[in-house]
Amino acid sequence: MRFQYGLLVTLPFAAAQLNELTKKAGKLYFGTATDNGELSNTTYRKILDDTNEFGQLTPANGMKWEYVEPELGVFNFSDGSVVANLATKNRQILRCHNLVWHSQLADWVTADTWNKENLTAALIQHVTREASHWAGQCYAWDVVNEALNDDGTFRNDTFYNVLGQEYIKIAFEAAAAADPWAKLYYNDYNIEYAGPKSIAAQNNIVKYLKKSGVRIDGVGLQSHFIVGETPSQDDQVANMEAFTNLGVDVAITELDIRLDLPANQSNLAQQSLDYQATVGACLQVKGCVGITVWDFYDPFSWVPGVFTGQGAADLWFGNFTRHPAYYGVIDVLKKAVKNGW
Ligand SMILES: *[C@@H]1O[C@H](CO)[C@@H](O)[C@H](O)[C@H]1NC(C)=O
Ligand SMILES: *[C@@H]1O[C@H](CO)[C@@H](O)[C@H](O)[C@H]1NC(C)=O
Ligand SMILES: *[C@@H]1O[C@H](CO)[C@@H](O)[C@H](O)[C@H]1NC(C)=O
Ligand SMILES: *[C@@H]1O[C@H](CO)[C@@H](O)[C@H](O)[C@H]1NC(C)=O
Ligand SMILES: *[C@@H]1O[C@H](CO)[C@@H](O)[C@H](O)[C@H]1NC(C)=O
Ligand SMILES: *[C@@H]1O[C@H](CO)[C@@H](O)[C@H](O)[C@H]1NC(C)=O
Repeated sequence: MRFQYGLLVTLPFAAAQLNELTKKAGKLYFGTATDNGELSNTTYRKILDDTNEFGQLTPANGMKWEYVEPELGVFNFSDGSVVANLATKNRQILRCHNLVWHSQLADWVTADTWNKENLTAALIQHVTREASHWAGQCYAWDVVNEALNDDGTFRNDTFYNVLGQEYIKIAFEAAAAADPWAKLYYNDYNIEYAGPKSIAAQNNIVKYLKKSGVRIDGVGLQSHFIVGETPSQDDQVANMEAFTNLGVDVAITELDIRLDLPANQSNLAQQSLDYQATVGACLQVKGCVGITVWDFYDPFSWVPGVFTGQGAADLWFGNFTRHPAYYGVIDVLKKAVKNGW
């Protein structure tokens, strides 16, 4: 036994990995977002395709409205099918993302004038055609993404401006009819800890849909965090339980933790603790089904393009060595397996 153990720790391919341990700890998956243009990078692909590392994929862009319905009534599923088909080929769980969002929306939606009747028809048509197309392939759909402002009021996008809160119901109803197999999620950021936005997601999305008799199965906690400012594990657990007590699952859907560049020993050590807090919180909550990082490789992260001077938010560096946070997450997962959480 001692000899075998020695072999396990010295051979790199035998080291315990993210998805393998997450499943042993009782969750469904540890996954990642990925995008079509990244798939030709062979070193990246080797890691992405390794189901011991990643058991779930989310297409970062290809299923968004601007690609799927670029003109009213004209549908194009080719971008979104690339990652969907890869997940099928690799036998990875597919989280489908997303059906309704104010951003990366086709121009015609915001440019046209609408009344309740014709926007309802356009919304139902979009959700129905898209969710039907991938029906049976998606473990979950992010049906509505980022509908709330940070103060908990509804974001005044075209859908809310014309239809009011009812657009949430219309979207979930259409998704439920089009894909009875997919778990239907509401997905947002800044709802990973207590506050007006989390309360609004509980009251005005989850309870509202349930009261209306419309199916909602889960809430996606995006978890785009900042090193040293990540909510504590206890706060994340309490917040997750506030949702699961309403009878929905939760999932960590877009985890990354950015730092002020350059990365150094101390900010990377803090990043490891911050990753451990979020993964640890999911492991502690029965209704938290899995963890998805918003890509795993720093050069493919959205962070540097959006937050000037910040980056190194993922688990792999540009040279394909792993962050200390990777090993921190592995440790937390191993503890959970050992303690039987
Ligand atoms: C993968 O991407 C990285 C970063 O852009 C690059 O350095 C590396 O050469 C790429 N590898 C391949 C095989 O394309
Ligand atoms: C659908 O989208 C793909 C990828 O963007 C594009 O290459 C193709 O031309 C589009 N198909 C049609 C019919 O517009
Ligand atoms: C929706 O209906 C209104 C009123 O009939 C009309 O002015 C508007 O152009 C219609 N919008 C679209 C996109 O068809
Ligand atoms: C929402 O936006 C529209 C269009 O910009 C504006 O007319 C309307 O007053 C806004 N509604 C709220 C509640 O802010
Ligand atoms: C590491 O980087 C942070 C910024 O992320 C900086 O505040 C800190 O001083 C640096 N520490 C060392 C030891 O260089
Ligand atoms: C890989 O990159 C990281 C971050 O820049 C650096 O700390 C590490 O030394 C590099 N490793 C190798 C083997 O080049």
